[in-house]
Amino acid sequence: MSAHTPPASSAKPGSTAAPAELQLPLDEELVLKVIPMPRDCNQNGDIFGGWVMAQMDLAGAVIPARYAAGRMATVAVNHFIFKQPVRVGDILSFFSKLVHIGRTSITVKVEVYAEKFRAQGKYTKVTEASLTYVALDEEGRPRPVPGRA
Ligand SMILES: CC(C)(COP(=O)(O)OP(=O)(O)OC[C@H]1O[C@@H](n2cnc3c(N)ncnc32)[C@H](O)[C@@H]1OP(=O)(O)O)[C@@H](O)C(=O)NCCC(=O)NCCS
Repeated sequence: MSAHTPPASSAKPGSTAAPAELQLPLDEELVLKVIPMPRDCNQNGDIFGGWVMAQMDLAGAVIPARYAAGRMATVAVNHFIFKQPVRVGDILSFFSKLVHIGRTSITVKVEVYAEKFRAQGKYTKVTEASLTYVALDEEGRPRPVPGRA
């Protein structure tokens, strides 16, 4: 589980305490940082969801690649949630952790946090996903993950 503090909306009614700031997960690995540019926008001026998904697929592959030790492919996006829009120039940090190693597949969780380029250190969780990758042989067929045969 990620080490989040409660969002501001969970503060008790009437509370005068400052809203707790979102903390980055301590049990996940930073696997990618990237800044979207104007060319990555949709017609609304927000960042195109397909661009975010492509970055997610790249980020999600980092940990499985260690275990697959060779060719692999994405077989499934098990779930994908766009929680908040991403803006041009946001710094996106992709955090990932291993969820499951099967016979030929490896499943990871990925969470994406955005911070403003000019106001760094305050994070918003914008996206999360679960992805499964499969180790492949040279013919593109599933092969056992090393040590899991
Ligand atoms: C990846 C591929 C070789 C798997 O072939 P397949 O016939 O589905 O293979 P299997 O049924 O033996 O499944 C292989 C593994 O994937 C898992 N898997 C298959 N479909 C899945 C799904 N929809 N969701 C989650 N896991 C799935 C299986 O559970 C199995 O894992 P395990 O061995 O750890 O139990 C084939 O689906 C393929 O080539 N897909 C295209 C990949 C691709 O182009 N990706 C996008 C670009 S990277």
